[in-house]
Amino acid sequence: MALTDRCPHRGAKLSTGFLDEAVPEGPALACGYHGWAFGADGRCVKVPQAHDPLRGMKGGARAHHAAARYGWIWVCLEDPAQPIPEIPEAADPAFRRIDEFHEAWAVSGLRIMENSFDTAHFSYVHAATFGIPEDPRPAPSTIEHTDWGFVMRSEAPVSNRGISKQLIKSDSDRTVRVIEGRWFLPFFRTSRIDYPSGLTHILCTGAAPIDDAHSMICQWVYRNDSEAESPAAKVIEFDRAVTMEDRTVLETTTFDVPLEMGAELHMPADKPGIEMRRRLAALLAEHGEREARLPAEE
Ligand code: FES
Ligand SMILES: [Fe+2]
Repeated sequence: MALTDRCPHRGAKLSTGFLDEAVPEGPALACGYHGWAFGADGRCVKVPQAHDPLRGMKGGARAHHAAARYGWIWVCLEDPAQPIPEIPEAADPAFRRIDEFHEAWAVSGLRIMENSFDTAHFSYVHAATFGIPEDPRPAPSTIEHTDWGFVMRSEAPVSNRGISKQLIKSDSDRTVRVIEGRWFLPFFRTSRIDYPSGLTHILCTGAAPIDDAHSMICQWVYRNDSEAESPAAKVIEFDRAVTMEDRTVLETTTFDVPLEMGAELHMPADKPGIEMRRRLAALLAEHGEREARLPAEE
């Protein structure tokens, strides 16, 4: 379980507190302001100022589902609509995990997710890293619908320059990425990229909403190579360069993405983003959080 970062006594941040080991039920999270302690279920188990300090108050902090997986803590504020995404390579000893970054961006989750499946921006946004500026035509792709989102497959020709040559084990100036991208409702994706050299690079990116206009972006990768072949610092450096190219343009986009089809203009390569709008609208309607008009299927 995880607790909301707010003490129910006077609203101090519980994250600035400490672990109180002197509670019979087991270690409890204590607030740094007056020392009240809370169990994993949020119940108040100790009020040090009380006559009997170990007899807690009724009520407590807000508790949420939490689980550790893939080196990260996954928290669900209500009951999970879907399980934690499956990443088969995470259990495969041929792959190592490299944690790349987590930081707040001024962007909405949907903008991040549709960008991750948008093959039409490479020639512009990624001209300096892997895009082919002289050929902006996006690679054809297919989409397979699933209960949890979709799988998109495509084969995208890309440039191969600088450090990328070492990282993907190819001296050629061009290569092809065989991509299998998975979108998990609402804001998580994996993108498995297989290169002709046999190198596989799997990007995992989550966008946890902070508020309407900001998201905590977490990214890590799995690779079937070794530290000696491709130092993690170099892998992170290249992916960071690509990610910052995306961030620069994404932070200029509007955050209140309209789910209605007519509200923005679209092209065929926008199909993944259109599918996301359709599925998110359906999810919202299903949960009764708002009236949503479902965009027609293409
Ligand atoms: S504000 Fe947390 S114990 Fe008082
Ligand atoms: Fe991008």
